[in-house]
Amino acid sequence: MDILRIRGGKPLHGTVAASGAKNAALPIFAATLLTDEPCIIERVPDLSDIRFMGRILEQMGAEVINHGNGRWEITARKIGHVAPYDLVRRMRASVCLLGPLTSRLRRARISLPGGCVIGPRPIDLHLKGLERLGCRITIEGGYVDVDASRLEGNYLFLGGRHGSTVTGTANLVMAAVLAPGVTRIESAACEPEVVDLCNMLNAMGAQIEGVGHHYLRITGVEKLHGCTHAVVPDRIEAGTFLLAGAISGGEVKVEGIVPGHMRALLEKMEEAAIAWEADPDAGTVTVYGDRLVRKPVEVVTLPHPGFPTDLQAQMLATLALTPGISIITERVYPNRFMHVPELLRMGAEISMEGPNAVVNGRSRLSGAPVMASDLRASAALVLAGLAAEGDTYIQRIYHLDRGYERLTEKLRNLGAEVERLPESALPEALKDS
Ligand code: EPU
Repeated sequence: MDILRIRGGKPLHGTVAASGAKNAALPIFAATLLTDEPCIIERVPDLSDIRFMGRILEQMGAEVINHGNGRWEITARKIGHVAPYDLVRRMRASVCLLGPLTSRLRRARISLPGGCVIGPRPIDLHLKGLERLGCRITIEGGYVDVDASRLEGNYLFLGGRHGSTVTGTANLVMAAVLAPGVTRIESAACEPEVVDLCNMLNAMGAQIEGVGHHYLRITGVEKLHGCTHAVVPDRIEAGTFLLAGAISGGEVKVEGIVPGHMRALLEKMEEAAIAWEADPDAGTVTVYGDRLVRKPVEVVTLPHPGFPTDLQAQMLATLALTPGISIITERVYPNRFMHVPELLRMGAEISMEGPNAVVNGRSRLSGAPVMASDLRASAALVLAGLAAEGDTYIQRIYHLDRGYERLTEKLRNLGAEVERLPESALPEALKDS
């Protein structure tokens, strides 16, 4: 397993292009199962999660061709209805197969995904929604069986105790597009990735109204056809690079993005006195990082358009180097703070009170060997490493490969001293620390 060595203290400078969004591409791949015609998907990021999703679709019977340069062709002429434990366990997002299988085959058998390192991740809202659409749900032996022989449109309310559900909305929209009658979804997630999926479904012949709003109205159609669709830019990757520019005290322009998708982050950056400039027509945001003037802030993560939980860890790292007391409250995944103990090892001062991280910003962090625990926690450690004094060694970086396309190369192009090395390169003295 490779490790990442970051020699900190160098301000990043330059321009970086955003990739397509992983969290849009995954349900979009699943949506290709809704038709027997070819779907061409463009701007697909080259990530281990995406390649794995491609393999899953192949195992389900689809023909999957990666043409390179982010262009994939998926044709699901004949498919099976079972997604076994072995697949779902390795990638939680494979639960988004539930909607397309229910819709197209009128039956699905999918292993229940279980929790993950960021906390328990139930799918009760997905199942409740399917029941409202006339499905019979049975849970046995760790599998959920869906009998959708009586699939029919209905009214659904998708709000849970942590707000709307992203993959739940994706699943139920995909279940409803081929269901006879009209489905009305209230409290639907309106993340740009959900919007992207709905746009693709409409391009395939679905009838979804209200795209981008919390209320969706879907008129079921008999059949969907193939389409060509380019995946929306990754606002989380873009936000990570902006915060990398800020924390390192450099100047970074991120291009190929939709600044309107990042309002909550940009607002918070402004409040924290991190200067930035957006050009919506050009699709760019430039951050002018100057550590001396950053101010502490309060951040609360919420479903879109609120501050995204997927940028909480990166923001926390930035605030760890922002003098004053900042508070981050995690409302979407109250336990998503695996990065905190690792940041403490780098000299950060953070105390936890329930879902609140109280950050006493310091003027310096020091490089250390640290352990990545999940995708966004790993990104936070990269940011901290870029700004810390000395060398940071990040282990278990396969988490980063799941969600950041060519991260090392992109950071190096911005002038970062980052190297991907074999684990054996970890200095002897640090191995037991
Ligand atoms: N929830 C329920 N019941 C449900 C579904 C969700 O209680 O049936 C709860 C969850 O436990 C959580 C909250 O509702 O507390 C939101 O969960 P959601 O369903 O929206 O999350 P998800 O769809 O499983 C996606 C992203 C996550 C991102 C969240 C929130 C994908 C593949 N994953 O997960 O991305 O954090 O939305 O925005 O789209 C990541 O990229 O690192 C990542 C974890």
